[in-house]
Amino acid sequence: MNKAMQSKNEAGAELAPAYILAVETSCDETSVAIVKDGQEVLVNLVASQIETHKAFGGVVPEVASRQHVECITLLMQQAIEESGLAPDRLSAIAVTEGPGLVGALLVGIMAAKALAFALDKPLIGTHHIAGHIYANRLIAEIEYPAIALVVSGGHTEIVRMESEGRFEVVGRTRDDAVGEAYDKVARALGFPYPGGPHVDRAAQASETVVPLPRVWLEEGSYDFSLSGLKSAVLNLVNQSRMKGEEVDTGGIARGFQESVVEVLVGKAVRAMRQYGAKQLLLCGGVAANGGLRAELTARCEAEDIELLIPPMKYCTDNAAMIGAAAYVKWKRGELSDLSIKGEPGLSLEGWSVREQAPL
Ligand code: KG4
Ligand code: ZN
Repeated sequence: MNKAMQSKNEAGAELAPAYILAVETSCDETSVAIVKDGQEVLVNLVASQIETHKAFGGVVPEVASRQHVECITLLMQQAIEESGLAPDRLSAIAVTEGPGLVGALLVGIMAAKALAFALDKPLIGTHHIAGHIYANRLIAEIEYPAIALVVSGGHTEIVRMESEGRFEVVGRTRDDAVGEAYDKVARALGFPYPGGPHVDRAAQASETVVPLPRVWLEEGSYDFSLSGLKSAVLNLVNQSRMKGEEVDTGGIARGFQESVVEVLVGKAVRAMRQYGAKQLLLCGGVAANGGLRAELTARCEAEDIELLIPPMKYCTDNAAMIGAAAYVKWKRGELSDLSIKGEPGLSLEGWSVREQAPL
């Protein structure tokens, strides 16, 4: 058992297990989970709003907040019941503090504060991206230094982690996030929201490929830029339509996917080498992408890199990952007070554990 598991203190005495009830409402999923010691999921309930937002072709913030209000208390109650734990056995209440839609975040934060206050339990405001990264802790021990490739609807980042709970963002998108670019391309190609999975399937099924540029940016940069590629796709589609030609949907989807995947994989593997990392952690909703998984797996095998990919239920937004990240703070006694509020621009680096804090 490694030190990170912390089931013993420095003197070797057993510590009581930590049961963290976690809440996630940063976007369009309402989720409540109970996680033991940051790694064992007792219950993870997710109420998705995708069907509601489909009608609008994207997430409508006001509608998202209202739906969170409708289900959050029921989900909390159900999670406690399903876990079989008496509420008093909970060690702490964790909640996504940011980034996300401010109105949506606030619903989870208010509910978590109320529960923490009523049960007299500590509160842990948690970073959403730290949650996506620590989803990997639900399936394996994380070995540091590690590199995380975060690919979701709102984020595209390469994060270096020198040790547990310390984050340094070494690369980020300068415009669209990967998932966002997928959804916009999908819309242009006529797929319903959220379009990422449709583009992925069309790309994998296509025998043709429309070549599209690779956007590497300046030499040595770990940043990404996806808006130019997205515009190139939109131009192709518009030109074909204006000329009355049939749009090669599959070929464009494949060309787009190959371009995105090549750059993501290339930069992640280079960061692994440059920082001497032991593991590559893939996370976020776009980790579902078949092309990305296949290419990353093949490259990591060829280059002898250990790759972790959580199962899909922990890649898309969920509260279990928030419970896993919150545990890193909980065991260091880094708690929040009841004054926390939604922070749409919360910094990941700023959420790092304090350097001097004892393990
Ligand atoms: O992480 P996530 O559930 O929500 C955010 O925190 O953003 O990611 C959702 C995003 C959406 O943009 C969706 O289109 C994209 O992930 N996505 C995919 C695939 N599955 C989901 N993108 C490409 N290929 C997929 N197979
Ligand atoms: Zn997310």
